[in-house]
Amino acid sequence: MKAPVRVTVTGAAGQIGYALLFRIASGAMLGDDQPVILQLLDITPAMEALEGVRMELDDCAFPLLAGITCSDDPNVAFKDTDYALLVGARPRGPGMERKDLLEANAAIFSVQGKAINDNASKNIKVLVVGNPANTNALITQRNAPDIDPRNFTAMTRLDHNRAMTQIAQKTGKTVNDVKHMTIWGNHSATQYPDLFNAEVDGKKAIELVDQAWYESDFIPTVQQRGAAIIKARGASSAASAANAAIDHMRSWALGTEGDDWVSMGVYSDGSYGIAEGLIYSFPCRCNNGDWEIVQGVEVGEFSQAKMKATEEELAGERDAVQHLLP
Ligand code: NAD
Ligand code: LMR
Repeated sequence: MKAPVRVTVTGAAGQIGYALLFRIASGAMLGDDQPVILQLLDITPAMEALEGVRMELDDCAFPLLAGITCSDDPNVAFKDTDYALLVGARPRGPGMERKDLLEANAAIFSVQGKAINDNASKNIKVLVVGNPANTNALITQRNAPDIDPRNFTAMTRLDHNRAMTQIAQKTGKTVNDVKHMTIWGNHSATQYPDLFNAEVDGKKAIELVDQAWYESDFIPTVQQRGAAIIKARGASSAASAANAAIDHMRSWALGTEGDDWVSMGVYSDGSYGIAEGLIYSFPCRCNNGDWEIVQGVEVGEFSQAKMKATEEELAGERDAVQHLLP
């Protein structure tokens, strides 16, 4: 058995937290030979509820769970941590866009970026889930200047998974037949799910559907799926979000499969002409605990325009939080 690693989860008493913690503790995220110490953070009024979650974790007798701490202090929760899933933030309600949460949530991520910088392992892998996820990841990264910017990522895996299922259902196949899906850009209504590079059963996805369905059905369905779930459930996605967080961290830590890739919001190095330093979702392959942006993916005129639009939105969000970007 390996030595335990420390995993911090913020917003641990919330609904995503409840769907996430038990799977991390069971080994779904880092493998069934990797013990974990859970370091749970929430705000002071949520401490009693968090204690209840800790009791339930204890009651599962997970063989891989090597310890649990609960705290309302980021400096405690991020101490020496190897992995952090930043979930704790307000969710949006009906009629809101995710960027409407910037004002309510951005400050959380500047505080937590500093706490990560001061306390965490320098090799920490950070996934930001709390919305607006890309810009919150940017705020976190910029407040942690002693840590490699590549260690900060934002979650677009939920969008990626949604897109996989939509194209599989449309073509009468299963998600096992879908490869090379990409979500470009922001986890928002401007995200661009790309069917020009995706393949279904070895065939180009775009050739299996008509362009009108792609533009008027597939793209808006994926872009608006979060809002559709809020409307139907009266609360934002939780189990599917937790599942995507597990998928994202697992791919990053344990690697992607064969020549396939996944979508991750990562620090842009200027690839595909996207402004350096934005946290932008690209096709990524992972190996040895590191990710790389897949190069040479086909970008035609249609894709270029969509990729630019979502980049512009991200640049606008970045400009709106300048005061939190040291
Ligand atoms: P929730 O309200 O059920 O839980 C949020 C938790 O965060 C609460 O327990 C709250 O007390 C805690 N919290 C608030 N401020 C905190 C702070 N400063 N430090 C630590 N904890 C804090 O919400 P949820 O449904 O779990 O969603 C959490 C976030 O995830 C929301 O912003 C939501 O929009 C986002 N989300 C993102 C994706 C994605 O794909 N990126 C998907 C689903 C939800
Ligand atoms: C989602 O995509 O389900 C989440 O980001 C929640 C939301 O606000 O849409």
